[in-house]
Amino acid sequence: MRMHTDVYSHVCKRTFFSMETEQIQKRIDELKKLISENNEHYYIENAPVISDYEFDMLMQELASIEKAHPELITPDSPTQRVGSDLSNARKGSRKASKEFEQYPHRYPMLSLGNTYSVTEIEEFADRAAKAIGDAFTYCCELKFDGTAICLTYRDGKLFRALTRGDGSVGDDVTENVKRIPNIPQRLNGIGWPKDFEIRGEIYMPYKAFDRLNEERRRDEEAPFANPRNAASGSLKLTDPDEVANRGLECTLYHILGEDLHFKTHDQALRCAMKWGLPVSDKRKICRNIVEIVEYVKYWDTERKFLPFATDGIVIKVNELPYQDSLGYTSKAPRWAVAYKFKAEQALSKVLSIDYQVGRTGAVTPVANLEPAQLSSTVVKRASLHNSDQMEVLDIRVGDYVYVEKGGEIIPKITGVELSKRDGFCVKPDFPTVCPDCGARLVRDEGEAKWFCPNVDGCPTQIKGKLVHFLSRKAMNVIAGDATIEQMYNKGYVRNVADFYKLDENKLLHLDGWKEKSAQRFLASLEESRNVPFEKVLFALGIRHVGETTAKQIARAFGSMDAIMNAGREQFLAVGDVGDVIADSIIAWTSVPRHREIVERLREAGLKLKVDGLVEKVSDVLAGQTVVVTGNFSISRDAVKKLVEANGGKNGASVSKKTSFILAGSKPGPEKIRKADELGIRIVTEEEFLSMIPEQEVIMDDNSSEPKTTAEIPVQGNLFGW
Ligand code: IVH
Repeated sequence: MRMHTDVYSHVCKRTFFSMETEQIQKRIDELKKLISENNEHYYIENAPVISDYEFDMLMQELASIEKAHPELITPDSPTQRVGSDLSNARKGSRKASKEFEQYPHRYPMLSLGNTYSVTEIEEFADRAAKAIGDAFTYCCELKFDGTAICLTYRDGKLFRALTRGDGSVGDDVTENVKRIPNIPQRLNGIGWPKDFEIRGEIYMPYKAFDRLNEERRRDEEAPFANPRNAASGSLKLTDPDEVANRGLECTLYHILGEDLHFKTHDQALRCAMKWGLPVSDKRKICRNIVEIVEYVKYWDTERKFLPFATDGIVIKVNELPYQDSLGYTSKAPRWAVAYKFKAEQALSKVLSIDYQVGRTGAVTPVANLEPAQLSSTVVKRASLHNSDQMEVLDIRVGDYVYVEKGGEIIPKITGVELSKRDGFCVKPDFPTVCPDCGARLVRDEGEAKWFCPNVDGCPTQIKGKLVHFLSRKAMNVIAGDATIEQMYNKGYVRNVADFYKLDENKLLHLDGWKEKSAQRFLASLEESRNVPFEKVLFALGIRHVGETTAKQIARAFGSMDAIMNAGREQFLAVGDVGDVIADSIIAWTSVPRHREIVERLREAGLKLKVDGLVEKVSDVLAGQTVVVTGNFSISRDAVKKLVEANGGKNGASVSKKTSFILAGSKPGPEKIRKADELGIRIVTEEEFLSMIPEQEVIMDDNSSEPKTTAEIPVQGNLFGW
């Protein structure tokens, strides 16, 4: 017998035909709850708990019950609606979608019916043939495993990008989408409709995904479970510059609009390609089920060599008038179906389980396996994530387990093959004390992981923090793990500030060190004094403060002092910061030892504030978001600094949340048009200067003397139109 996670085994064992109505209703409620919870893990948290297959089986069970008992179908059933990715969809979320405007979709953004069986594709083809009653073709395409996007082009320009949202309303992610290199902001060629939508998928190629997860693992941030989650998480970042760094790509596959004159889906995609839009060339026109199955089989093997993730094949009726006549259900088109590939699995024996302590003290169980071939790699280790996961799997040392690659570097164990369990299997005991320092492990409420609480005394944690501090993305000091271990073992460094007390004399006492290596290390340490504040903040290794968060916090607060004095609400007002990050920073800064380290780093000359920071002068703009556009008598950066120095926030794009537009000469016409549309006030440079107290303006590096705001010349009407 095959045992999966409890949800799935439940599905397998159930037969609903014999149930009484009350029991049926109970199971429906149970399924709805499971589906809704897992939708939230998938779409909102970007961290699925069960596999796609398990999720699809839950949906299938619900659909079958509803088919047998149509009187029990409710309009809010997940079989009738698409899952929601809206950032404020999570109940009780503190991070309501404060960064994204929401707009209605012109056409509902639906899902696709899916199947894992060839027989069901045949049934789909039969149904289509019967309804059409004439000759037609299919367009078969790859099913890209990303996150759905809807782009609107007006007059050949990218006008708006919306996520699927709940199918009716989507999050406006235009600014982020503009930073995805293969999405054109202007169309090429001729003949594009004046106003049309094109839908597709934003995805993260494996290379970018591996790079991102490697960074996250090194920073002890939870890695993304798969490229799909990484893509949708990245698309919802609040800083477009960060989005640009994530290596996202787009592929488009569905054009919609009022005045489109294409005859077939394939023709529409060929035109889109000519206009410069990214369209996959892997599609194929098939005339019958034999050709469809050939295509499916071909890609089930070939997809392993693609540089991005696919989770199936989409089969579409190619002729657009026939698509129209087949139409839609409330959830999906009747003219298309998805055939989904099952994830590849290997069966392997658990030899032992290690418990690894990370730099933040988190204890992760890792299974050592008998080497097994999975896709193109040999798997020897698999993560068990945490003790709950071990309980759910009821795993024993000696068990045979199913291993899957969810796109992660370390594969995961998805189930135990109970039929292969023998009397020699041993139930593992999750340690109660740290495998390194022996401290009793703790687990806070809501945490999935056990932690070693000996933060400043556990050698593994200390060494992990020291390594992190000097790492490339942090202080960028040339020193390998072994060097740091040597320094630690000699008792030279116990915390990150100790590095700056090292001298050549001490270093020459380390095994194998010569003058040259000591000088090279000291020179590199010297250079680290110029590392920008955001990197120093990241280097401190505060739990949950990864590279991106450190950057956002450094920019929002400007200095370590401001961070150490800030309250919870101030942290929550920053970009992607939520409760967990806010609490973690406050917990870190309230430890006297940590404050002492900060002071020692200050004495060592590290940068503890943002370069060119204008100290807070007033709070006259507190709570206001200002969009600065056009040219001013001082640089635009200096104007933005003035906004921040007076308590305001700079916004990148105009939205309902913009307090006013600060417009110099030649402001962006699109920004002004949007401001007009939303009734947002436009403020001139002169008016702005009269709003804030007179102050010294830090000019750009290449400018001469600092000016005061009173000295800035203001030239009449600054609008350039
Ligand atoms: S066509 C009306 N084509 O898969 C729906 N969808 O699981 C039209 N997807 O919602 C969708 N590759 O986000 C279509 N070649 C492809 C696709 C594709 C991926 C996504 C899409 C859809 C989801 C359903």
